[in-house]
Amino acid sequence: MMTDTDVAARAAAAFSDRFEGAPDGLWAAPGRVNLIGEHTDYNDGFVLPFALPERVVAAAARTDAGWSACSEFTDETVRFDDVSPGAVTGWGAYVAGVVWALREAGFDVPPARLAIASDVPVGAGLSSSHALECAVLTALIDLGELDLPLEDRPRLVQRSENGYVGAPTGIMDQSASLRCRAGHALFLDCRTLEVEHIPFDVAAEGLAVLVLNSNAPHSHSDGEYGARRRSCEDAARILGVPALRDVPVDGLSDALKRLDDEVMRRRVRHVVTENQRVLDTVGLLRSGRIREIGPLLTASHASMRDDFEITVPRVDIAVEAALMAGAYGARMTGGGFGGCVLALIDADRADATTAAVTAAYDRHGFAAPTPLVAVPSPGASRLA
Ligand code: GLA
Repeated sequence: MMTDTDVAARAAAAFSDRFEGAPDGLWAAPGRVNLIGEHTDYNDGFVLPFALPERVVAAAARTDAGWSACSEFTDETVRFDDVSPGAVTGWGAYVAGVVWALREAGFDVPPARLAIASDVPVGAGLSSSHALECAVLTALIDLGELDLPLEDRPRLVQRSENGYVGAPTGIMDQSASLRCRAGHALFLDCRTLEVEHIPFDVAAEGLAVLVLNSNAPHSHSDGEYGARRRSCEDAARILGVPALRDVPVDGLSDALKRLDDEVMRRRVRHVVTENQRVLDTVGLLRSGRIREIGPLLTASHASMRDDFEITVPRVDIAVEAALMAGAYGARMTGGGFGGCVLALIDADRADATTAAVTAAYDRHGFAAPTPLVAVPSPGASRLA
């Protein structure tokens, strides 16, 4: 596995390659894995992500006018002065969107040059694009000495994502990338944005969170994400509540009786029960009972598969194979329709669990999954 230092060195090298001189500094923001609480964030509910050691690093410096960005993934250097929505497209929109959102919020954003490097797997549902936005945001805030408290930063990145990039995503990923702490999971109330850092030292318990990238293609995920979101918002309107967060789990069967549409009933059941599973997981972790969260993880997966219908065969097969190989619990993590599966396992079972999933994939004619042992890591910061 690569470390910050490798990625940081690559970002600094990309900066001096493409721009003149050395950067003023290096800023890093991590990808995330969500332990539990899927599609609950835009329902004002609860989530429990933690940050990965894998990060996006921005090497950046102030300049005289405009913004330029380059990345180790492409030869293209994006330059722009105009940050009105639509003016910058492609990967540059993730940079321009942050500049735009800061300006919309009234900040005097410093002109800057940024060079990007990353070891967050792309297209795996581990939030590589939010990590990019959070690294850019953190760099610009420091370069311009902007007064934006940490707790207000995720909303700004969400504004960039929703209003500029054009993805109707919630508040979880930015919050994780910006606010997580090493050795902890981030219990976030997506309505109040209150956080509690929940100790999650899996290694001390002889455990590990194994993340397996299914490498399933993410077809239709954008449209399906928006459709799930609309269905939840429509249901809340019919039920006369501000958001599905306001349907308590003991009021679920009454709520379901008031909905005619069978698909909508399933969507609501997922969100309401998932919120409760987050609360139950937090309860167990607060009393140090890490192994016991396994069945909640597996129940979350079943709910995403059967009620929210956001899984695909490759992730279902990985979950089943990991459980057969002795995992305490396993579930898909992230927005869905592919991406990664996480499994809570004994620390010495990572190779055996990966081998079991690889063998199952082989039987189905799928290429091997890519494993990663996820260590709860700190949120965005300046490296140098
Ligand atoms: C994506 C979105 C998040 C969240 C998850 C599902 O990662 O960016 O806001 O909705 O999907 O939990």
